[in-house]
Amino acid sequence: PLAANDPKHIRVKLVLLGDSGVGKSCIVLRFVRGQFDPTSKVTVGASFLCQTIALQNSTTVKFEIWDTAGQERYAALAPLYYRGAAVAVVVYDITSPDSFHKAQYWVKELQKHGSPDIVMALVGNKADLHENRRVSAQEAEEYAEKIGMFFIETSAKTADNINQLFEEISKRLP
Ligand code: GTP
Ligand code: MG
Repeated sequence: PLAANDPKHIRVKLVLLGDSGVGKSCIVLRFVRGQFDPTSKVTVGASFLCQTIALQNSTTVKFEIWDTAGQERYAALAPLYYRGAAVAVVVYDITSPDSFHKAQYWVKELQKHGSPDIVMALVGNKADLHENRRVSAQEAEEYAEKIGMFFIETSAKTADNINQLFEEISKRLP
């Protein structure tokens, strides 16, 4: 049997944070089940799902995913989920500047209260709605670079960059 810390089989606690409605649950559903739900319901509290991916060097990474609730009434619960997380995925909606500001709030929270070696990704979701874009990729990229975060735009609807998001995170694990 393989030891729990065998480097070929990595377990990673990942938390998703971001405003209500930005598409966190849809990103997880796309990644884990390959599906999209146009009538996705708001998350209550948080939900937990796992997905394992294989990397090219025969390493497998099992993501233990905490999909948090973005509604303000659940904000106080967030530390329960990001505490001890190795990876934080902070999501905004490219059509919503408010959600981009909220993402920056979560980044500051993580810098203050998250693990010092946490891997953070900034995700601009709903990239399929580019006609209604109100947050430029350049602005987000510059912000992420300043913080030292990985940045990517995704669409849970079309599946664009969803697997790439998790592959890029895997490459950045300590
Ligand atoms: P909370 O659970 O309240 O925090 O929200 P959430 O971030 O989990 O949002 P959710 O995944 O439930 O998606 C909210 C709405 O956005 C739903 O109507 C989704 O169908 C829609 N949505 C999610 N991702 C995308 C996307 O990539 N493109 C488009 N066009 N719509 C999306
Ligand atoms: Mg949700």
